[in-house]
Amino acid sequence: MSTGCIILAGGAGKRMKSEKPKVLCEVLKKPMLGWVLDCAKEFGFDKIGVVSGHKCEMTEKFLSENYEDISTYYQDEQKGTGDAVSRAAELIKSVDRVCVLCGDAPFMDADTLKKALELHEKTNAGVTVISAELENPFGYGRIIRDSSGKFTAIREQKDCSPEEAKICEINSGAYWFSAKELLNALPKITNKNASGEYYLTDCVEIIGNAEAYKSENPDITYGANTRMDLYALNEKARADVFARLMSEGVSFIALDGIIIGKDVKIGADTLVLPNTIILGKTVIGNNCEIGANSCINDCVIGDNVVLDNVKATSSVVENDVKIGPFAQLRPGTIIRKGVKIGDFVEIKNSDIGEKTAVAHLTYLGDSNVGRGVNFGCGCVTANYDGINKYRTEIGDDAFIGCNTNLIAPVKIGKNATTAAGSTITKDVPENSLAVERGHARIIENWEKNFLRKKK
Ligand code: UD1
Ligand code: CA
Repeated sequence: MSTGCIILAGGAGKRMKSEKPKVLCEVLKKPMLGWVLDCAKEFGFDKIGVVSGHKCEMTEKFLSENYEDISTYYQDEQKGTGDAVSRAAELIKSVDRVCVLCGDAPFMDADTLKKALELHEKTNAGVTVISAELENPFGYGRIIRDSSGKFTAIREQKDCSPEEAKICEINSGAYWFSAKELLNALPKITNKNASGEYYLTDCVEIIGNAEAYKSENPDITYGANTRMDLYALNEKARADVFARLMSEGVSFIALDGIIIGKDVKIGADTLVLPNTIILGKTVIGNNCEIGANSCINDCVIGDNVVLDNVKATSSVVENDVKIGPFAQLRPGTIIRKGVKIGDFVEIKNSDIGEKTAVAHLTYLGDSNVGRGVNFGCGCVTANYDGINKYRTEIGDDAFIGCNTNLIAPVKIGKNATTAAGSTITKDVPENSLAVERGHARIIENWEKNFLRKKK
């Protein structure tokens, strides 16, 4: 039995007051559409399609940069969810079962989809709607049942009678369809309703043979139409991430200002301190101290690492490293085991060897640095001549004196030393000392002579 998934992402979401389509509005710095796609990927559909419309180029850019094997369909005018699904007819024709999801309901999960599919198969239904009971059902489509309790229709808020509006069981906006039944039903949907839209929900009455899988977890239905809704989703997602991490052994003294993305993994006994933001696909090991005031994005961090007031992006930090306070790792940086990086150090696109120390006020860009190297205060790699960038290579156990400028491309051999204040323009062989600075001139009695002349 092959399965396909259609994610509806065409709406404008005017109430967000955004230049972006609504599905790209973010929860924990990840577009809502990304959350829904992760759920679909986890379920393991044979095919996944996204229907975009409003500002589709932005939606398609997000898809191509972040996901593989997603078909896209285009809805030129936002005429309703029924019209949107019909745009993906090609996908529907190619599978046996079709799951439709809303791109603006980020908390749907693969387990719920599996259980709903089991009911769908067991009952041999034409359509199975995933429903939930909400304390405040306002705005959602209501699940209408007949006197025997059989599910017969979905009524949108605007079309509800006062009695129907009291129903608390709502449509999550996620459904399983028999592909054949869906293809038959789509052309029969009309726009004769309060919104003048083609409602996908009309399929329930058209197909007739409908089931509702009522989820125990109302979270799966939460969507966002306004910034306030989005804020509520962020708060909930943030609390869920903390709960997961604490159950996995991560410590927090206070949660103030801490934001951790949903895909972040952190090992046991690691302590995260306030005002720390950890995002993307970051993985952090055991027994680390991260923060305060650190921003870590798409990094892999080992065990026993201290990051104090650090900003790190797309970098790797191995075990037993201490960085900070006030340091930055820019993309493409690898910090090997046992390295120490101190205050006001910036490292970019460089590999820093084991047990090397970069203690203060230093910029290393496009550099390969060996093991056990010591940088004095205020060293700079001049890696850019205004047109091209060049690499600096430094061998094991080299000693780079304070205020050394290394004019790339340049190589410093193993165990070589550069004298403080040198601007190194030539390669330095192993075990040698390089001095590139002006000679000292001492002018005796200078002050007295100078003052006498002035008189
Ligand atoms: C829809 C359901 C409602 C359900 C709710 C759950 C219908 C008619 N109603 O209402 O029963 O309780 O979801 O959240 O389906 N979209 C398009 N093209 C369009 C219209 C919408 O792609 O022409 C997309 C939107 O981008 C969105 C999704 O479909 O991701 C749902 O549309 P939305 O307008 O938010 O539907 P609701 O009014 O929330
Ligand atoms: Ca919605």
